[in-house]
Amino acid sequence: MTGRIASVAARPASRSQAAPLKVGVAGLGTVGAGVVRLLRSNAELLTRRCGRPVQVTAVSARDRARRRDCDLTGLRWCEDPLALAADADVDVVVELIGGAEGPAKKLIEAAIVAGKSVVTANKALIAHHGMALARAAEAAGVAIAFEAAVAGGIPIVKNLREGLAANRIQGIYGILNGTCNYILTEMRRTKRDFTAVLAEAQRLGYAEADPSFDVDGIDAAHKLAILASVAFGCEIDFAGVHVEGIRHVSALDITFAEELGYRIKLLGLARPTPHGIEQRVHACMVPLSTPIAHVEGVFNAVVTEGDFVGQSMAEGRGAGAGPTASAVVSDLMDLARGRALPMFGLPLADLAKLPAAPIGRRVGAYYVRLMVVDRPGVIADVAGTLRDEQVSMEAMIQRARAPGEPVPVVLTTHETEEAAMRRAVDRIARLDAVTEPPCMIRIETLETGAAG
Ligand SMILES: NC(=O)c1ccc[n+]([C@@H]2O[C@H](COP(=O)([O-])OP(=O)(O)OC[C@H]3O[C@@H](n4cnc5c(N)ncnc54)[C@H](OP(=O)(O)O)[C@@H]3O)[C@@H](O)[C@H]2O)c1
Repeated sequence: MTGRIASVAARPASRSQAAPLKVGVAGLGTVGAGVVRLLRSNAELLTRRCGRPVQVTAVSARDRARRRDCDLTGLRWCEDPLALAADADVDVVVELIGGAEGPAKKLIEAAIVAGKSVVTANKALIAHHGMALARAAEAAGVAIAFEAAVAGGIPIVKNLREGLAANRIQGIYGILNGTCNYILTEMRRTKRDFTAVLAEAQRLGYAEADPSFDVDGIDAAHKLAILASVAFGCEIDFAGVHVEGIRHVSALDITFAEELGYRIKLLGLARPTPHGIEQRVHACMVPLSTPIAHVEGVFNAVVTEGDFVGQSMAEGRGAGAGPTASAVVSDLMDLARGRALPMFGLPLADLAKLPAAPIGRRVGAYYVRLMVVDRPGVIADVAGTLRDEQVSMEAMIQRARAPGEPVPVVLTTHETEEAAMRRAVDRIARLDAVTEPPCMIRIETLETGAAG
């Protein structure tokens, strides 16, 4: 029995004789150990549900001496993860090493060449090399399953490829990074600034020592590029994602947002537009009346909009050993049952190659916070600049008075095109009275479609 799609489908009539699906796990860190644990604790349940056992036969990691968060008794240890691809006692390779290049990529390529299906949680690798890997897998007749790569325990790939498959997906957006959501939630709850909350998140293990993948939006962008491909039936275009993080968001902005009836979230948003596929990751102000505004802490949520089903939201834990293992094992169960769908929902030849919509074409409302010297005429200069760029102001708030000193001034706009807004903000930033770079946050109404 191998991991080829056709051959995993063939199974004996009687469960007692059914051959197990033999699994090789590369990487025994947070997720790998979780997968080994889940497969052991729920072994009987999985056998009943799949009609055959799903068994780990061999494992690989860097350091054999390291204590693991799982029982490795009876499992063969491979010093080199590539050995799993060649191993006659492995039907399916589970790649949980991580990283867009290096051993993870080599292992998946070797597994495909050996005719074995692959399960991975590696969003960076799929976002960067998903198309090439899918081509190789399709040619070899094997599957690459990646439910765990997006939103951890939330089965959003399955939702899109199966439950919502009858719909034309008009938009998708979500909280795709639990670290950012935790930081923004704590900043609001405790009124502390980004740096202090990030340091605490690192102490608690919610943020990495190098947090840039998370707080600069890159991790969410990897996931968004994958989701957009599955949702819209197009090739992955990671380079087409406009990416911003949350470092510029201050406690002051979070307080103003609440006052204006919004909450600040790092969202990934994607939708087809007349200018191409819009894919963007950035901090957004979302109305307090929307369900996603109340998804707090490390939780993730994904909202899809289908032409017949309308909007639906799935919420859950986006990371951690248990939720991610749950997603990895659901992919293994599909393979054990002989079920495999095209990686991005369509055969590769049918995936559209769509242009990326430029961020300058985004139409929506904006929040801008300025620090300006409190003196006569400044507000008129700001308003004049907006008028020159034909940006229509909705409201302006100046709370504090401190003649001659910098004070915060907040303005919100009606719908406008981003290119005009940026021109206006650049000109405002150059005014003498403006003492630091303005903070601009897009307002997303989330009423219909994916955005604004
Ligand atoms: N953590 C999460 O909650 C989460 C959620 C969703 C997706 N993911 C994805 O899941 C994957 C794994 O993440 P993780 O958090 O479990 O990572 P991790 O805790 O850092 O574990 C990585 C594992 O890979 C092993 N490894 C590294 N280099 C290797 C090499 N050259 N050869 C063999 N083994 C090697 C390590 O071995 P040693 O233990 O011996 O050092 C370790 O066991 C990543 O792609 C990540 O993006 C993670």
